[in-house]
Amino acid sequence: MRKFAFIIILLTTLFNVEIDALNTNIVPQPLNMEVGDGQFIFTDETKFGVENSMQERIVANFIEQLNRVSGIQPKVTRKHKKAHVKLRTNKTLKSEAYSLDVTPATVVIEAADDKGFYYAMQTIRLLLPAQIESAALVQCTWAIPAVKIQDEPRFGYRGLMLDASRFFIPKENVLRIIDCMAMLKLNKLHFHLIDDNGWRIEIKKYPKLTEVGAWRVDRGDLPFPARPNPTADEPTPIGGFYTQDDIREIVAYADQRHIEVIPEIEMPAHTNSSLAAYPNLACPVVNRFIGVLPGGGGSHADIIYCAGNEEVFSFLEDVINEVIELFPSKYIHLGGDEAWKSNWKKCPLCQQRIKEEGLNCEEELQGYFMQRMARYVRQQGKEVMGWDELTNSKLPEDVIIFGWQGYGNAALKAAEQGHRFVMTPARIMYLIRYQGPQWFEPVTYFGNNTLKDVYDYEPIQANWKPQYADLLMGVQASLWTEFCNSAEDVDYLVFPRLAALAEVAWSPKDSKDWASFLKGLDKYNEHIALKGVGYAKSMFNIQHTIIPSNNQVNVALECIRPDVTIHYTLDNSEPTANSPVYNNTLSFDQAGVLKCATFASDNKQVGQTLVLPINWNLATGKTIISGNTATKVLTNGIRGSLKQSDFEWCSWEKSDSVSFVVDLEKEQPIQSFTIGSVTNYGMSVHKPASIVVEASNDNINYHKIGTAQYEDAQIFVPGNYIDDCEIEIAPSSARYLRITAKGPGKSPQSHVRAGQESRVMFDEIIIN
Ligand code: ACM
Ligand code: ZN
Repeated sequence: MRKFAFIIILLTTLFNVEIDALNTNIVPQPLNMEVGDGQFIFTDETKFGVENSMQERIVANFIEQLNRVSGIQPKVTRKHKKAHVKLRTNKTLKSEAYSLDVTPATVVIEAADDKGFYYAMQTIRLLLPAQIESAALVQCTWAIPAVKIQDEPRFGYRGLMLDASRFFIPKENVLRIIDCMAMLKLNKLHFHLIDDNGWRIEIKKYPKLTEVGAWRVDRGDLPFPARPNPTADEPTPIGGFYTQDDIREIVAYADQRHIEVIPEIEMPAHTNSSLAAYPNLACPVVNRFIGVLPGGGGSHADIIYCAGNEEVFSFLEDVINEVIELFPSKYIHLGGDEAWKSNWKKCPLCQQRIKEEGLNCEEELQGYFMQRMARYVRQQGKEVMGWDELTNSKLPEDVIIFGWQGYGNAALKAAEQGHRFVMTPARIMYLIRYQGPQWFEPVTYFGNNTLKDVYDYEPIQANWKPQYADLLMGVQASLWTEFCNSAEDVDYLVFPRLAALAEVAWSPKDSKDWASFLKGLDKYNEHIALKGVGYAKSMFNIQHTIIPSNNQVNVALECIRPDVTIHYTLDNSEPTANSPVYNNTLSFDQAGVLKCATFASDNKQVGQTLVLPINWNLATGKTIISGNTATKVLTNGIRGSLKQSDFEWCSWEKSDSVSFVVDLEKEQPIQSFTIGSVTNYGMSVHKPASIVVEASNDNINYHKIGTAQYEDAQIFVPGNYIDDCEIEIAPSSARYLRITAKGPGKSPQSHVRAGQESRVMFDEIIIN
């Protein structure tokens, strides 16, 4: 019996070993890596040889993790000769760099400092079976493949920003994210602790910051941008904050993992949370109730600190004093973004300040504000960071700028003046944006930043002056949490894109290889899944592009993973690994249903099934003339989703008057005309105020065949829905139809975005 059990254990063991030996890829990809023969197995007999107590601590943490899952208890010795795993100081290596030489007999690790040894252990962690992350005992061979690695980071600043204001991220989840960052050799957590939607850090001198400022009304039934502002008498059950002990725990946990936690104390805007607690710090011209905002805030986003009130500065200095005590980081981020200055323009105190300081405008008043606070922070021995709007006026001395708007190029204005900077461009590194085909994604803002977009990012542009590259400290992925309602939502947006950021931040530019990155990523994902992280599988989903031409619609399908096969059906059946393989564009000349999905090499379906119903009418496959580049979606036979950024909706920069012509290619009898329009109330996307349809046979002389008019009460209706605008027309015969739509203009006073210009979007013209 015992012999039998032994054989089973041996078989399981061999099986595991085989699986592990297959994948030596790790993320971020090391500078140099050679795979050797065989593997090193950790057992009770393994001896770790260390030279000093720093190495002993690093080894002890590793052994603790190994022991927890394996029960193995390796020994630690200062006698190097007898050791199997040898840690050796090598002062010729740079800080953070390490070398790792694994043979079946020994593991030799060299580094110049604790960071280097720590990163070598993280590499070993990723080379081990992912079960190393399990909480319970696992039956497994604890082996790592024989490899030779020399490794060092490309950039010194390798960061993640977490916004704990829009969604209060529980401490336990922050700690888990920190550990997952450490595995990726990331070293900066930019902690966005303050915004309009919640003040998240206990400040002893101002208890109302968390008693009042950390709590807001419950508008969880509505997406963030559609949430109306609070009234004074509503309960505020949603929120939370980190106590000073919580902060100390987070900072210490991060420090053990060589991650510096950089606090962001936002000013002078994005701070309705503190102004809800201490309304006297807003400009005295604000005569409305100031509450912690549950959403975008509309005109309340203009309520910012008064730059003419001395109390504001003493308040912020007091806050900074407590923050400095809690965060050993040498940096404090002072925000400075998106400060709308409508109240400053009206405020007598702000205007007085402008006069006294000899400033020319409100923008310069922000310059004064930021410079004054930056000077205070520097006097306390810390360095100052800020968003790229600081380049709109005189920059505070030595400030480090975070390039975020668009592709982050405003940061180059700072570099031009000799300032260091970090790149976190919204168009690539904002993890709030969709990470995959939008039909499958939970609703969020704006366009796509896929895993591949993040991976492909190259911060140093060919047209940069050489000194810009010298001033670039590194890169950061930034997670804004407007659309997070749970800690799971946070994990979903952060992972796995954070691994792609790590590759940009750590690995050499020229050695990037998407396919091998994905292999390393799969391994990393196994690790974090065992830690309980629900990472996104969006990378397996299919993005479709449907283009009309020559009376057909052509469907192109793409998946960012090159190691999957797309199978499809046209008979309404579910796609399987036996369905036809998609290789080339599929063309339709009549209505049909395309179903498709991705499958791995083992024939298992890995992505979600994409269902594309192709509709057909007189306009389908026809050409839109005199439209913009997006108008082609109007005749591609496919309807848009409720997400107006899903590439199936066409929009206009200005919607005051939109006009385009559809060419039906020959004179046709026309009975009905419908155009699909989407409403996304929170984003001010609304149906038009009017639509006029005109007919022609020569594209010169047109006559009106139908019109529709909509009143404000029909247009500005809350919600997210598709409206088919059916326009009654005089039955006609025509080759050309000209459609002219007029936007509804500014949203009315009662709207969540009162006074903002609304946009019109159409997905399809349906002519029968
Ligand atoms: C920002 O996204 N407002 C920095
Ligand atoms: Zn003021």
